[in-house]
Amino acid sequence: EITKIRARQIFDSRGIPTVEVDLHTNKGMFRAAVPSGPSTGVHDVVELRDGDKGKYLGKCVSGVIKNINEKISEALIGMDPTLQTQIDQAIVDLDKTENKGELGANAMLAVSIAACKAGAAEKEVSLYKHVADLSGQTNLVLPVPAFTLISGGKHAGSNLAIQEIMIVPIGATTFEEAMQIGTETYHHLKGVIFEKYGPAGCNVGDDGSLAPNISSFSEGLDLVKEAIDRTGYSGKIKMALDVAATNFYIGTKYDLDFKSPNKSGQNFKSAEDMIDMYTQLCRDYPIVSIEEPFDKDDWEHTKLFTNLGICQVVGDVLFKRIEKAIDESTCNALLLKVNQFGTITEAIEAVKMATDAHWGVVMSHRCGETEDSFIADLAVGMTTGIIKAGAPCRGERIAKYNQLLRIEEELGDRAVFAGKNWRLP
Ligand code: PGA
Ligand code: ZN
Repeated sequence: EITKIRARQIFDSRGIPTVEVDLHTNKGMFRAAVPSGPSTGVHDVVELRDGDKGKYLGKCVSGVIKNINEKISEALIGMDPTLQTQIDQAIVDLDKTENKGELGANAMLAVSIAACKAGAAEKEVSLYKHVADLSGQTNLVLPVPAFTLISGGKHAGSNLAIQEIMIVPIGATTFEEAMQIGTETYHHLKGVIFEKYGPAGCNVGDDGSLAPNISSFSEGLDLVKEAIDRTGYSGKIKMALDVAATNFYIGTKYDLDFKSPNKSGQNFKSAEDMIDMYTQLCRDYPIVSIEEPFDKDDWEHTKLFTNLGICQVVGDVLFKRIEKAIDESTCNALLLKVNQFGTITEAIEAVKMATDAHWGVVMSHRCGETEDSFIADLAVGMTTGIIKAGAPCRGERIAKYNQLLRIEEELGDRAVFAGKNWRLP
């Protein structure tokens, strides 16, 4: 049973305060931390912070810590950690608001994850196996890693509007091979960029990916293509994009120069221009998936583009609107960021909804991460088929990929790699 819960403030990979929880049972201590990221919307659950500008620029989480140490702790002490649904319900019931604004979704998630880890230990099974039991999955599938190789948008200081250019080694036969392909391509890309832009081009963005000062989508895609060619794995690698277009939507147009101080206006694109551009990019490069190609509330064009059937279209910033998005066939894949739900149970429900509708599910990290590798086990246990956890570089990104290597080793002969079935494994 749960005997003690203690929370503390730690820091994420961007140096911003976040929450860590130690949950104790008779089996030991189980630790979890929550990530954070800038892509949020009005429909989001609340990531609670103190807001005292004099302390950590308003980002302190002492109130969240207090909520865990007092309210949540009191409600959960004595509970069986294997009963995830009941635990999550007990946490959610403590908050009378719709958006988890009283306790904070960050408070809830930290405890929910720690309890999940304790539940696995109680059952003496691996974490991914416990997650599979909770989500009713019998298949354990290693996801294809989508490695971000070039970043822009809000994740890097370059002029590039698009947030992420990724490679997806779907032609690998094991996760380990996918890692080899990903890391080799990353290092080749560093070489390509060094030759063209010098050492300053090799600085990295928030998620460890390279951030040369380029401004057009195709310039970035060409660099990655050249790196892929140098590896000799071109037949095994597809590409994916996270446009994060909400960042540069200015009412009626998309401003591809949004980070430039002196803009002429010639890079203001209409949604129709964007559709044409994506269609052309998918012809020129092996792109299999595009995330957030339009503003998060521009469902009309997202749907129009999805209906063209050119590639998978991933909805980020969906949260509670997932049911509506499925009903209206707005896109055809869910970007799963657990901290946008608040509890594991709610994340499992969202995945169920998505897979029942034959949507893809992309397990996702956040831009501000911690060394907690929980989403690796979650991706395997929930059979998402694909995970994006940033570049194969920087500790907080690599922590997830390294955990997947361990899981593959542990499963041995039983390990199945999603590979070409990445969309619907
Ligand atoms: P974030 O989003 O920057 O809000 O973490 C990352 C993503 O969209 O993949
Ligand atoms: Zn995104």
